[in-house]
Amino acid sequence: MYLELHQLNKRFGEKEVVKDLSLELAQRDLLCILGASGCGKTTTLNLIGGFLAPDSGSILLDGQDVTALPPERRPVATVFQSYGLFPHMTVLQNVAYGLKFQGMDRAAARKKGLYYLELVGLADRAGSRIHALSGGQQQRVALARALAVEPKLCLLDEPFSNLDAALRTKMRHELKRFQEELGITMVFVTHDQEEALILADRIAVMEEGALAQLAPPEELYQNPASPSVARFLGVDELVWREDGTVLKIIKQ
Ligand SMILES: Nc1ncnc2c1ncn2[C@@H]1O[C@H](COP(=O)(O)OP(=O)(O)O)[C@@H](O)[C@H]1O
Ligand SMILES: [Mg+2]
Repeated sequence: MYLELHQLNKRFGEKEVVKDLSLELAQRDLLCILGASGCGKTTTLNLIGGFLAPDSGSILLDGQDVTALPPERRPVATVFQSYGLFPHMTVLQNVAYGLKFQGMDRAAARKKGLYYLELVGLADRAGSRIHALSGGQQQRVALARALAVEPKLCLLDEPFSNLDAALRTKMRHELKRFQEELGITMVFVTHDQEEALILADRIAVMEEGALAQLAPPEELYQNPASPSVARFLGVDELVWREDGTVLKIIKQ
């Protein structure tokens, strides 16, 4: 498989935060890691991104064992909840930053940065300062910056949780569109069942640091592996696409 986590363990002091976590993800798929607050989602993402080292276990990406590599040497880009943009740079400088870091010359980095800004609908704000943008626009810039480096894997940690409900819904659908059009492999962390059901090709439900179930949304919903997974999914009625992903959630 394209991404493989093998029996990852991570503890902070006495507390086991990630327990024997194994999962696999195919190239161009979007995996949602879904679970209650505090279950270990961010820690898992930090292990994949290299911001934390596991106590044991290994991580393979596209056939390469990346477990011992620092974040900047992993072909991985991360979008954080808090955007993580550089406030002293313009929008375009933010997006082009990683490209210059990769050794691309100024003109080529600028051109590519603009291409990705175009993609997220912000080409006309290329020269703006970050703080002049709304939260939703800043999150689009963060997304453009992550995608511009053409990572093998894009990690997203609850990226839309600071946005209002209407914008959040819009961003989810846009993200799904970019992901499918560009064929990017993504791991998206959320505590929001609706978000996972809308976005994911496969959902990994985490409970207290362990994997409770890994399945496509439809299978998860129709065949929850345990009462606790079923309880956590508590949604009302779903409209499915032909490919098994969720088109719409009807709240009763
Ligand atoms: N650096 C750390 N030191 C100590 N405990 C931590 C640290 N990071 C996270 N934890 C604890 O690990 C557990 C899982 O945290 P986290 O991965 O952030 O969960 P989630 O993202 O699912 O909300 C929580 O109980 C949290 O308090
Ligand atoms: Mg978290």
